[in-house]
Amino acid sequence: MTAKPALSFEHVSHAYERVRAVEDVSFAIGAGEVLCLVGPSGCGKSTLLRLAAGLETLQHGHLHIAGELAACGGGGANVPPELRGIGMVFQDFALFPHLSVAANVAFGLHALAPSARRARALETLAKFHVDDLADAYPHMLSGGQQQRVALARALAPKPRVMLLDEPFSGLDSRLKDHIRDETLHVLKESGAATLLVTHDPEEAMFMADRIALMRDGHLEQIGRPVELYFHPASSFAASFFSDVNRLTGTVTGGRVTTVFGALDAGQLPNGTPVEILIRPEALHLAWAPDTKPDRPSARVTAARLLGRSTLLHLNMEGEEGRALHLHSRVPKHVAFAEGDTVEVSLDISQAFVFPASTP
Ligand SMILES: Nc1ncnc2c1ncn2[C@@H]1O[C@H](COP(=O)(O)OP(=O)(O)OP(=O)(O)O)[C@@H](O)[C@H]1O
Ligand SMILES: [Mg+2]
Repeated sequence: MTAKPALSFEHVSHAYERVRAVEDVSFAIGAGEVLCLVGPSGCGKSTLLRLAAGLETLQHGHLHIAGELAACGGGGANVPPELRGIGMVFQDFALFPHLSVAANVAFGLHALAPSARRARALETLAKFHVDDLADAYPHMLSGGQQQRVALARALAPKPRVMLLDEPFSGLDSRLKDHIRDETLHVLKESGAATLLVTHDPEEAMFMADRIALMRDGHLEQIGRPVELYFHPASSFAASFFSDVNRLTGTVTGGRVTTVFGALDAGQLPNGTPVEILIRPEALHLAWAPDTKPDRPSARVTAARLLGRSTLLHLNMEGEEGRALHLHSRVPKHVAFAEGDTVEVSLDISQAFVFPASTP
């Protein structure tokens, strides 16, 4: 990241009357970086984006764009949206219905001579392979085409910062994959800093250089996708990015005993009730027609091919004879079937121990 971030939030808080939507959030995005803001519905993602855009007046904290103060809480500076050097795309695309595609994209190009506007509009539309639609009107376009035009309109003025709020959520899944991929390449080539809001963890991992995970208005964890996935800061963060198996236990001497052996419990004191979160891909399976008493084994209750992986449902006996139902995800197709007995081993790098959230 450069010394001067393209966009920074410093101790930003925001309330709508009595609803506290954002609580003391600080983070920065570097030029050319794609940062995905993720979290459950209502956690404050769109509010942060709208504050960056200047569509909401900042109440507390500071906001800098390219090192310059764009907004300051408590009635301080407040640069209007059109002077912030930002491009925006929303879920509903919000194209101007009475303007052609080319005129939509040329709309924000005041800085260019009129003769140069159409050329820039066509050039930007071409990046999304929709320059042939320049003279069409928005109602004549499919959802995917409207999406590309909306992205082109936001990028045409060469903004320093792109703000995208759930830009792919209106598209069906195969088209979404394609447009995401195309968008990532165009954004990276543009050098703009991108703040992309999504509630889809897979989309965030696909698009992001870094992910900021929000929960109830605050920042739960920020980092590269690999950091959030392999080193989640909380059970919330661990379970946001995949289905997880949950075991329970109690800390004894810095460790917690499980059916898969003792796991490190870090600095947690003796007697702390904990939950152990295990990603499905961390449970490795092997054929075990003859169960060995010293090895954890399970009975397969269902096996489902999901395309790139197979999901196995397992029943096994846990600590103190408790019945466990676990999911194991195995790459490719495996031939385990209902009723098979399998030996189960745990990749401890994907088992996370946290204090139990409810006693
Ligand atoms: N204009 C508004 N007036 C009152 N409350 C609002 C307004 N906009 C948002 N809120 C509330 O602020 C909180 C945060 O909303 P926000 O739109 O930022 O969430 P979000 O993370 O974008 O959610 P979603 O994923 O559903 O889009 C929510 O509790 C929401 O109900
Ligand atoms: Mg939102």
